[in-house]
Amino acid sequence: MGYQGFARTDAPPARGAAEHRFAELGRATAGLQPPFAVVDLGAFDTNAAILRRNAIGKPLRLVSKSLRCRALMRRALAQPGFKGVLGFTLPEALWLAESDAHGEFDDIVVAYPTADTDALRRLAADEELARRITLMVDSVEHLDFLHRHVAPNPSRPLRLCLELDVSLELLGGRLHIGAHRSPVHTPEQAIAMAHEIDKRPGVDLVGVMGYESQIAGIQDAFSAAALRYPLVRLMQRVSRAELAERRAEAVVAVRSVADLEFVNGGGTGSVVSTAADPSVTEIAAGSGLYSPALFDGYRSIRPLPAAFFALPVVRRPRAGLVTALGGGWVASGVPGPDRLPKPAFPGGLRYTKTEGAGEVQTPLRGRAADGLAIGDRVWMRHGKAGELAERVNSIHLVLRGEVVDEVPTYRGEGRAFA
Ligand SMILES: Cc1ncc(COP(=O)(O)O)c(C=O)c1O
Repeated sequence: MGYQGFARTDAPPARGAAEHRFAELGRATAGLQPPFAVVDLGAFDTNAAILRRNAIGKPLRLVSKSLRCRALMRRALAQPGFKGVLGFTLPEALWLAESDAHGEFDDIVVAYPTADTDALRRLAADEELARRITLMVDSVEHLDFLHRHVAPNPSRPLRLCLELDVSLELLGGRLHIGAHRSPVHTPEQAIAMAHEIDKRPGVDLVGVMGYESQIAGIQDAFSAAALRYPLVRLMQRVSRAELAERRAEAVVAVRSVADLEFVNGGGTGSVVSTAADPSVTEIAAGSGLYSPALFDGYRSIRPLPAAFFALPVVRRPRAGLVTALGGGWVASGVPGPDRLPKPAFPGGLRYTKTEGAGEVQTPLRGRAADGLAIGDRVWMRHGKAGELAERVNSIHLVLRGEVVDEVPTYRGEGRAFA
């Protein structure tokens, strides 16, 4: 089955449209000294609407690691369709919940297990925080760890979410396709964990989460996957079918033991297919709001590029080549050219094979280089979403051709979580 998000288009934006857009961004930010980052609020809000439409009525839980900026997280959570946060560390969740003046951060599921015993003790000691934050577990070892470091308190139970491994296992488990996350793969293992949690005092199982990264995190558009794309699509079709059955069984099994409030699945790259899975009650999404370069390679969803950064041209070593300051804002994951920032404007600029995107300077070649003078800007897009926010203290928000605000990133607020 082909999943077709309504925003799908494989066509690159028309040259005139890109020129118009960057001319407008250039005018709006003329008073800023690069390097700086911008988010185009029109595109950001449109992307929220695209995600909502693709989620076919299921709520979207905002993936905080993919924004790393509280003002933009608040903006997303104020849009219809978004409800709750999927955080990435417990100290982050405590910070968000404690700083929450208006109730935006009153439901945070920490998507990764924690071994931070100080943070756990803070959580367990505060009734309000314990009510707002849900911890991730996937093993008896996690439960033992919790009980070793936090005295169980049945009147103030810790909320737990069980992570289900939703990767694809073939050849009797010898071929693993997907992220290495939870060891809980089968419905039998899931119900055994639910019973383990049930018999312990001071903990409540309230949710199940599974992130199908082999679907959400692998580009499948022809332009991105090139020769691999028939294989990628076949693997994803097999995985969706296998998962629909296994997740449904696991959820039914766990529900026989625990009153689940939510079953979370997916990410931006799989909103369409995850929303179609009846056992999933909510979809995780974040990256699609910034729409970084890696999201150019998806067939099912094509959000609008909304986050950019500008680098200054500081050298012209020879014809056809300019050198920008900095630029090595490389994305995490399997190393490869797709982890480098994507030159967005002027069009046709490419990295040199010998330097790539450098720590303090980045040469860029191409015909457009000769039209650039010292002090001109090169517009780039990060490979991934939230990692851009780890490079700058603030993001300039642009709306209808004007900078309307400058908001701090997590880093700008002095917060480094992971
Ligand atoms: C648990 C979980 N859900 C969802 C996502 C995907 O989020 P996004 O929409 O930002 O791609 C991730 C990304 O790593 C994740 O770890």
